[in-house]
Amino acid sequence: MKTIQLRDGAVIPVLGQGTWMMGDAPARRADEIAALQLGIDAGMVLLDTAEIYGDGASEELVGEAIAGRRDEVFVVSKVAPSNASARGTAAACEASLKRLGLERLDLYLLHWRGRHPLAETVGALEDLVTAGKIARWGVSNFDFEDMEELFAVPGGARCAVNQILYHPGERGIEFDLLPWMERAGVAAMAYSPIGQGGDLLRRPALREIASRHGASPAQVALAFALRQPGLIAIPKAGSPAHVRDNAAAADLALTPEDWAALDAAFPPPPRKMPLSMI
Ligand SMILES: NC(=O)c1ccc[n+]([C@@H]2O[C@H](COP(=O)([O-])OP(=O)(O)OC[C@H]3O[C@@H](n4cnc5c(N)ncnc54)[C@H](OP(=O)(O)O)[C@@H]3O)[C@@H](O)[C@H]2O)c1
Repeated sequence: MKTIQLRDGAVIPVLGQGTWMMGDAPARRADEIAALQLGIDAGMVLLDTAEIYGDGASEELVGEAIAGRRDEVFVVSKVAPSNASARGTAAACEASLKRLGLERLDLYLLHWRGRHPLAETVGALEDLVTAGKIARWGVSNFDFEDMEELFAVPGGARCAVNQILYHPGERGIEFDLLPWMERAGVAAMAYSPIGQGGDLLRRPALREIASRHGASPAQVALAFALRQPGLIAIPKAGSPAHVRDNAAAADLALTPEDWAALDAAFPPPPRKMPLSMI
């Protein structure tokens, strides 16, 4: 699996695994755990979860999937904005660690901006680093202006990652946010990179490119995201077939003709667009 380096030198794979809506249905639990474990075997060792996913159910499921494999995986979780005060962040992190069965998170993100001042949240995240509860921290759903504000607060420039919506149908961040993040050394983590498995995968451009390569539309969407330097994508897959499909996308090489077809079907942003979020 190809890798990228975070600002502190940590190496992570360009493809990880999302877990939103995993752990919600008892009947799917065993399959979901098996899918995550297969993904780890295939090199997608970064697992993304959050305290709000299923009210902790996703973190518990991830904990079960990685039991006995701590050294192989890179675990990401997120604090909800409503909890992102100084004391709330520390308490939320402790609860996430307990559900995951971990002593330390590899990356802890502020899920999106809320009412607590950025300086207070950053202070709390830095304290968690000092206490050894998290290895590093980042943000999610931060637009260009949010990143500039973040970098202006004490410690804000130590942000390692911004997790944002990105796929062929959502290219707005290419205009200003991605170039800014690359200059600032903040890695991009693309969420919903296959458009949540919906209409995007039925678009003729993706289907035609996929058939030229004997690939799937999902693989083309992932290859599209991975063209960006310093970006990792975190598709969620609940079945072995989808996991295998996604893991193989890191090796799909698109041609100049494919890129032109993608640009024609999904034009790059001509001007600044507000960041979309799910
Ligand atoms: N920070 C945020 O605000 C935020 C917001 C949204 C998501 N996220 C994170 O990003 C992760 C990924 O985003 P997402 O779950 O919204 O959407 P996604 O990964 O774009 O799509 C997941 C959907 O696509 C299907 N799928 C997976 N692989 C496929 C393949 N190869 N071919 C066809 N269909 C496939 C899945 O079905 P099966 O499950 O049946 O395989 C599922 O229905 C989340 O799980 C979460 O960890 C973060």
